[in-house]
Parts: sequence; C-alpha cells; structure tokens
Amino acid sequence: MPNIVVVGAQWGDEGKGKVVDVLAPHVDVVVRYQGGNNAGHTVVVGREKYVLHSIPSGILHPGCRCVIGCGVVVDPGSLIEEMEGLVRRGVTLDGNLYISKNAHLIMPYHPALDRASEAKLGPRRIGTTGKGVGPAYVDKAARVGIRMVDLLDERLFRQKLEANIAQKNRLLRDIYDAQTFTVEEILNQYLRYAGWLAPYITDTALLLHQWIERGYSVLFEGAQGTMLDLDHGTYPYITSSSTTAGGAATGTGVPPTRIHGVLGVAKAYTTRVGGGPLPSEMAGPIVDTIRARGNEYGATTGRPRRCGWFDAVVLRYAVRVNGLDTVALTKLDVLDQCETVRICTGYRHRGELLTEFPEEETVLREAEPAYEEVSGWLAPTAGARNEADLPAKARQYLVRLQELLGVPFCLISTGAVRDDTILCEDSPLLEWFPSVRSSLL
Ligand code: IMP
Repeated sequence: MPNIVVVGAQWGDEGKGKVVDVLAPHVDVVVRYQGGNNAGHTVVVGREKYVLHSIPSGILHPGCRCVIGCGVVVDPGSLIEEMEGLVRRGVTLDGNLYISKNAHLIMPYHPALDRASEAKLGPRRIGTTGKGVGPAYVDKAARVGIRMVDLLDERLFRQKLEANIAQKNRLLRDIYDAQTFTVEEILNQYLRYAGWLAPYITDTALLLHQWIERGYSVLFEGAQGTMLDLDHGTYPYITSSSTTAGGAATGTGVPPTRIHGVLGVAKAYTTRVGGGPLPSEMAGPIVDTIRARGNEYGATTGRPRRCGWFDAVVLRYAVRVNGLDTVALTKLDVLDQCETVRICTGYRHRGELLTEFPEEETVLREAEPAYEEVSGWLAPTAGARNEADLPAKARQYLVRLQELLGVPFCLISTGAVRDDTILCEDSPLLEWFPSVRSSLL
C-alpha cells in the first residue's frame, strides 16, 4: 500500500486539511511530521467546521490512526484543549491518536520568547504566530529541549526544566525586559498534562514501521508550506521546521525508501500571512475581493492574509524541491468573478528575466513579477462534478498552469465542503488509491 506525502506548495494555507480529509478514508494512518500548533487545518464536514492545530486531519475518520510524529513540537495545553474539543463533538481519540515520545515540548517560555524576539526585531520581524514554535526548535537544535518522553520521568523533567528556567529567565529579563517564570508553576501544570497525555505517548517510529510492514498505507500530512521551509523557504521569513517532503522521513522515522509519492497542494492564487517576500502580491481593490471570497484570514491567528496571483515560479520550485508527482489545486471558485486572471511566469530584475526562484533577499525584494494574462470565466465553478463541467475558460486556465508546472493536477477543489472536489481525468491519485474514484463520484 502506498505511503504518500501531502505538502503545501506555497506559503501554507493551501487547503491541505481538506485534501487529507478527502484521502483519509483510503489510508490507514495519517501522520503529522513537523510544525506545531502554529498550523490551522480547516476541514468542513457537512455543516460542521473543524480547525485542527496539532492533531492530523485524519482524526475525523473513525478507524484512521493518527500520529503526531517526532518532528512536531507540541504545546500540551493547546493539544489537550484540541483533544477535549474533538471528544465533545463525538470524535474517538482512544486507539486513534498516538504521540511520539521524541516530539519536543513547547514550554511556556517559548511563546514568551517568540513574542519578545518579534518585538525586538521591529520592521524585520517575521510575523510569527506567536505560539513559540521557533524557540522550541531552537532548544531542540541546541540540545536543551524537553521531549514528550521526558514529561513521563518526573525527576528528569524537573532537572531539565530547572536548567532551562535559569537560562530563559536571564534572557527574558536581561535581554528582552519581559516577564520571567518559576519552576514550580510550570512543573505542576506540566505534570497534570503528563497524566492526561501519558496513554497516548509512545514509540511512534516503531509503530509506523510495524504498520508499514503489515501493509498499512500512510499519509504524511505536511503543515505550512514549501516557501516557509527552514532550508528551502524565503529565509529568514520562514517557520523553523522542514515543511518540504524530505521532512516527512526525518519527522516520523519512516525511511525515504518507504515513501512512494508526493502530492503538492496549491491554491489557484497565492496567499501569505506574516512578513517576507510575496513577488506576485496583488494591489488595489482586487485584494479585498479575493480576501473576502476566499475567507483569507489566518485559521490560527485570524490575521488577514496577503493575496497574490498564482506564481508559477514558486510552483515549479515546489515541484523541484519536493519532487511533486501531482498537484491538488484548491479554491478555483475564488477566481470565478475575476474579469482577468494573471499568472506570474517569471521575475524581472535589473533588466533580466528570472525563471528560477532567487535565493537573495535583496533580489526578491526588488523583483517585479512578469505576468501572463488570461481572460476570466465569470461563471460559477462550485458544483462541477468533473472537469468537463467547468467553464471552458477555467479549463484553459488549468491547462496553462499544468503546462507551466510540468506535472498534472489530480484534484480540483471548488469549495470548502468535501463534495466540491473534482477528480481529474487520469488523476495520478488513482494509481495510489483506486477507490478514490468511487468515493468522489
Ligand atoms: P511561526 O511558525 O509561528 O514561527 O511563524 C513563522 C512564519 O510562518 C510566519 O510568517 C507565519 O505567519 C507563518 N506560518 C506559520 N504557520 C503557518 C500556517 O499554518 N499557515 C500559514 N503561515 C504560517
């Protein structure tokens, strides 16, 4: 059975939650491999809307095992709140949710450091979600982080906490002039969390290995997107984890040789929340139209997202660094009322046309998008059951995008609900999951 990575191909918020939700009935396991509760994966089931932050989107499918892998950083208070919210809505977690012993904890001083550091950066601030994700990964890399498994060993947890508090309090007080923490307040709170979470904490790398040996199919659910990747994104305006497909192996313990394909998710346009370059950023009244039609507000922070036209340079880059086999294109319906639709095919910089994504911050800041314009379809796309039902000009737009990317689309999403999903002709998904055809028709 195939093990497939689902990865964001832009700056996050591409609609990965919906794509994972559509695929979850066809796999046995869904695993998150990086990021933390900075993510907000929105899934609409019937009239019910769920926003998941740390728990894989597969949890809404009974029988689908969900794993929080070792590459994830976990804020236990936020996770418990999310778990309680799901239980209240009738979702079963016992036997369905597994948390890696090796996942690192977000401690209360991490959000405090996140906010303090952002405030100090001033105009060069990243625009983080403020959840402490960056500082938690800093501690992991500095080898002073505290893992889930440490939470279950009270003595060790206390030792690690004391060492951290001594250092973090000095940072908070002396460098940032911010509030400090006491060991006891954190210890008591986190030991309560430990009691709650203990039944779910396990060796998930071993479990995944055993399940794969048994022939189970695993979906790796990426969070954020390619352009926010620690190594491949628009550094320093990125998140602190490996959001690209390579992260799926390190963030779970499943070796690359057991991963069979990569599916990218991209919007029919582009958005970004927070600071940093967005070369195809729209200007003028169109921004408000797209933001309103696409409900482009952060699922975690509520911040308005910046909006841009589809950027084929970014997508080609995502195809390359993730090895995308196919792309699911989402939110096509948001462009339904545009008289003209633009596609960014390159960047102009000091008389040169760049067709590969540049790595220099200054070049990105100065680059002007080179656009191709296509005429809008001015007709609804929602409700279309297959590509032939789409307006002809919308189909032309899709054909042109695929030409530019060099990989085929597998799904087209035209609305938030599961039903507004078109399975493309010859969709590569059918090779991986033949049963998708019957479930989407
Ligand atoms: P952090 O991940 O909170 O450190 O934020 C770093 C950057 O990643 C900021 O630009 C955030 O807006 C962005 N970011 C983090 N999580 C998400 C997400 O789930 N969707 C979109 N952007 C995100």
